[in-house]
Amino acid sequence: MARIEGITIKNFKALKDISLGKTEDHWDQQSLTQLVAVIGKNGTGKSTLFDVFGFLADCLKEGVENACELRGRGGFDRIHSFNGEDSIEFDILYRESKNSKFINYSVEIDQDEQNRPFVFTECLSEYKSTERSSTLPGDTPLDIESGSFQLRLPHAA
Ligand SMILES: Nc1ncnc2c1ncn2[C@@H]1O[C@H](COP(=O)(O)OP(=O)(O)OP(=O)(O)O)[C@@H](O)[C@H]1O
Ligand SMILES: [Mg+2]
Repeated sequence: MARIEGITIKNFKALKDISLGKTEDHWDQQSLTQLVAVIGKNGTGKSTLFDVFGFLADCLKEGVENACELRGRGGFDRIHSFNGEDSIEFDILYRESKNSKFINYSVEIDQDEQNRPFVFTECLSEYKSTERSSTLPGDTPLDIESGSFQLRLPHAA
């Protein structure tokens, strides 16, 4: 079963900029464990954290525009952090299994001129080894930027 190693969330409701576990920008951190307990005062963003996964699932199933409205989210303006200037952003580092290579999925969601939410960038990168190295950048099979995308498949050996 796939394992989430870490996540960064930016500008999603109360979660303006948080990282949990090992992420591209926090490679030295320990990965999340199989059981994660989230403890915090009322209104600190615990339910919001869980809704990140619901929101992403809705984005994939129903599209970004519908996902912003579903489950009482109330639209992009309600889920975008108040005073947040940049896009909503999620970066998830995961592995298909314990000894698999790291895969990073990142997506940025913004509004267009007609105030419609859209995927601003989306990128899926697979690291070449189980350890990160600046000389071994990940393969990037999917890279979408502002609506146009490049699909890069590995060359046959
Ligand atoms: N768009 C937004 N920008 C910034 N903050 C927001 C936004 N939408 C909601 N919030 C804040 O998020 C907080 C609620 O977050 P959440 O419901 O995740 O907290 P919680 O930790 O689950 O609280 P509880 O313990 O009461 O269940 C409130 O303080 C609310 O003001
Ligand atoms: Mg809650």
